[in-house]
Amino acid sequence: MKPDFKQVEIVKSFLQGENDDWLFSQSDGIRRQVFGDGVFIRGIIEFSNYCKQNCSYCGLRVPNKEIARYRLTSEEILFCVEIAEKQGIRTIVLQSGEDPYISDEWIAGLIAEIKKKYSIAITLSLGERSFETYKLWRNAGADRYLLRIETFNRKVYENARKGHYWEDRLKCIQMLKELDYETGSGFMVGLPGETIDSFADSILELTKLNLDMIGIGPFVAHPETPFKKESNGDVLLTLRTLAIVRILNPLANIPSTSALESAQKGARLTGLKVGANVIMPSLTPERVKVLYNIYPGKNATRDTTEYSIEAVRKMIGEAGLHWSDSVGGSPNWLNRKQLENTL
Ligand code: 5AD
Ligand code: SF4
Repeated sequence: MKPDFKQVEIVKSFLQGENDDWLFSQSDGIRRQVFGDGVFIRGIIEFSNYCKQNCSYCGLRVPNKEIARYRLTSEEILFCVEIAEKQGIRTIVLQSGEDPYISDEWIAGLIAEIKKKYSIAITLSLGERSFETYKLWRNAGADRYLLRIETFNRKVYENARKGHYWEDRLKCIQMLKELDYETGSGFMVGLPGETIDSFADSILELTKLNLDMIGIGPFVAHPETPFKKESNGDVLLTLRTLAIVRILNPLANIPSTSALESAQKGARLTGLKVGANVIMPSLTPERVKVLYNIYPGKNATRDTTEYSIEAVRKMIGEAGLHWSDSVGGSPNWLNRKQLENTL
C-alpha cells in the first residue's frame, strides 16, 4: 500500500530519510506524468536591491550598509526583457526589495509597456502590498505573483521578521488568489527555531493553500545579518521537502532554486531530478547582479546573461530533460479557471 502523505507522521518519516530512493523516484515520476520532460524557464530581472524591511535572514535588509544599492531604469529593464525574448524565454519575473522610492504607478506603467511590446508572461515578486496595489498591477497585465510565507511556524516567523505578523502575510496570499493571479508561495528550510515536527506540519499547511507555484530553498546564513552564526538549512532535507511537496501538489510549478546551488554545488541539478520543473536564471545586468546578494552565493559570479542562460541549458540537458518553449502556466490555475467556468 502507498504511504498516505496527508498524514503528518508519514511526512515526518520521509523527511528523516525513511526511504529516499522510493521518495525521489515517486516525485520524479509524478513530475514526468504532469509535465513530461520539459523544464519551464523564468528569467528573473532583479531591478532594485533597495529594501525598507529588516528581515533577520536577508542581505538586502535596511541596516546592511556593506552593499552598494542600485536601481535599474525602465530602459535597462526593457533591455533585459529584449534579451529574454531573443533567448526564447517566455516568462520574466520582476523582483526587487520593497523599494520605497519606486511608485506603484511606475511599476504598473512598466508592466503595461512590456505586455504591449512582448508576448511574454509577467510574474511579480515585490513583497507585501495593499489589495489596491495588487489590483493595479493585475489590471496592468501582470499574470503571476510570488510571495513566500517563509514558514508556517508563527514564532519562527515573528523572530525572523521582527515587527511583522504571519497572519498579514497569509492575507496577502489570499488577496493574490482573489485577484486571480497565478499565485506562488513557499518557505525556507532550516530557519532558526524550526523543528522537524513543525516543519512536517508546514508542508501539509502549505498544501492546503492550493498554490499554483511553490518555491523551496535552504536558508543560507548571510554574514551581515543577525542570523550570521546560524547553520545553513540542510540540502538533503530541502530535496526531500521538494519531493514530498511535489507528491502532494502534482499540478504546481516548482522551481529548483538558486539557494540550493549556493548551499551545495550541483544541488540545483539534483532538484530537477527529484520533482522540480522550473528553473529561474538571473537576467540582471552583470554590472549590478552581484549586488543582489540576498544570501551568500546568490548571483555570485559576474557572468553575462548569455553565459548564465547557456549554463542553464547545459544543466537541463545533464538532468536528461529539455528546455520547454511553453509560456508555462500552472495546470493548477487552469484547472481552477475551468472549474469556475462550469459553476
Ligand atoms: N537564505 C535563503 N533564502 C533567503 N531568502 C531571503 N534570505 C535568504 C537566505 N538568507 C529568500 C526568502 C525570500 C526570497 C526572495 O529569498 O524566502 O522570500
Ligand atoms: Fe527585503 Fe525581501 Fe530581503 Fe526581507 S527578504 S529584507 S523584504 S528583500
